[in-house]
Amino acid sequence: MIDTLKKTDRIVILTGAGISKESGLETFRDPDGIWARHSIDEVATPEAFARNPGLVHRFYNARRRLLDDPAIQPNAAHHALAALEANWQGEVLLVTQNVDDLHDRAGSRNLIHMHGEIAKIRCVFCGDVRRQIRDLSPDTPCDACGRSGGLRPDVVWFGEMPRDMDRIGAAIEDCALFVSIGTSGTVYPAAGFVHEARYNDRDAHCVELNLEETDTSPMFHDSRKGRATELVPALVDALLAST
Ligand code: APR
Repeated sequence: MIDTLKKTDRIVILTGAGISKESGLETFRDPDGIWARHSIDEVATPEAFARNPGLVHRFYNARRRLLDDPAIQPNAAHHALAALEANWQGEVLLVTQNVDDLHDRAGSRNLIHMHGEIAKIRCVFCGDVRRQIRDLSPDTPCDACGRSGGLRPDVVWFGEMPRDMDRIGAAIEDCALFVSIGTSGTVYPAAGFVHEARYNDRDAHCVELNLEETDTSPMFHDSRKGRATELVPALVDALLAST
């Protein structure tokens, strides 16, 4: 099916924590994942932040600091997706659930961080958003308005609206190929994208690349099991060779 794609066709790619695993970042739901040690209700909801901002800041400070660790770098899967965007004639829209910046660092530019970015902080008082790798506490003043108590990680918590859903929905509606990489397919709305793509006007071909079977695997035409650093470059090579 990939052989019959036209080089001007639109491709939508969804990524999750699995693509960054081989760069040294943890996934969420694997046995050694983040949610095995932390409770979502304590660190990843607006209510948690209102109840205990210090705890929520410590959780995100530790994850933000990792982005500054020279050992954490984009891997072959991130680089392959950047190469696909650069060399495919049609639009390649990359939608990531990841709050890390590894796609950005690999060179992907047509990129939506639907769950926000951990390297950015936002002031709930003045709305200022800026990229900043530094620890936050409930007392940290905002550099823009000077008020304390309003800075939060610019990420989307459970119960909040993911970013750019209109643009993502329009692209899925018109894509000929939808690829899901390294996501367990348990968190909506992202988990529903394959359904939207499969039944869109183009009858998009749907490919999943993941280490193991997921809840949404049966929805894909082609579900390949393995490491992202192997499966993603192979798929990108096949796509670029097909045109
Ligand atoms: N290559 C490919 N897939 C991998 C690899 C790898 N090297 N390592 C792990 N995986 C797979 C796992 O098998 C799992 O199915 O990646 C998936 C990761 O799933 P989750 O931990 O659930 O992460 P994700 O799907 O991104 O979570 C979605 O949940 O908690 C929220 O906001 C958070 O954005 C996150 C959302």
